[in-house]
Amino acid sequence: MNIIKLDAIGSTNTYLKELLMVSNLSNLTVVTAQRQLEGRGQRGTKWVSQEGSSLSFSVLVKDSLSDVSQIFDLNILVALSVLQGIKKCCNLSLAIKWPNDILADNKKIAGILIENSIKSSTEIVSIVGIGINVNQQNFDDLPQASSLKLLCGNPFDKEIVLQSVLECLSENLEQLKSGNAADLWKLYHDFLYQKDKLAYFELPDKTLIQGYIQGVSPNGLLIVELPQGNIEYFGLKEIKMIY
Ligand code: BTN
Repeated sequence: MNIIKLDAIGSTNTYLKELLMVSNLSNLTVVTAQRQLEGRGQRGTKWVSQEGSSLSFSVLVKDSLSDVSQIFDLNILVALSVLQGIKKCCNLSLAIKWPNDILADNKKIAGILIENSIKSSTEIVSIVGIGINVNQQNFDDLPQASSLKLLCGNPFDKEIVLQSVLECLSENLEQLKSGNAADLWKLYHDFLYQKDKLAYFELPDKTLIQGYIQGVSPNGLLIVELPQGNIEYFGLKEIKMIY
């Protein structure tokens, strides 16, 4: 695996995307940064991490998806790989909060931002950005965030966590390529936060609703059974889970 290690950069996702425009990079090229000055999160948010104590990296995934419909296969695969990679390093009970936040003890310890570029119906290039709170101790404005160190009580070797996640990612991509997405989806659902439990959500107009999480559809929508018994499908911008 080709790993490019940077000290400081705006965003590893942006860097990798720009590098790809001017060079021919191999599949699974990785960019890591000790310090990200303009880390980007989902829904246009910022991803802030403390210099040196967290993992911020991006992975180029190309030649793996053969159809646009596999884009959400990649989403669940990445979430699963981050969870599995972290799980190999610590003893925490982990869950995936739809679509791809990694939680431990109800606290967010890792986030994922995947940016796809669809070159043709069979050529999809993805920049998979992953942020893992490894040894960070302060999350002043983020009461729902935590780190491996805070939850386990001991520091972790970031390099070992990185290698563990990359190994799981590479294995799961091989599984996807060999046509075995079903097992990945099963595992994703096994770890899905609040599955079959009553959960609370906020709608874009700030209305609060509750419902039972049934699962995630093949195109990535959250399936919720509302108290009236009707089943609804929600996209990322249509619902926010309260936890
Ligand atoms: C989220 O949970 O909102 C997603 C956070 C993703 C953060 C990672 S850190 C490495 C990569 N570079 C970025 O700018 N963002 C992702």
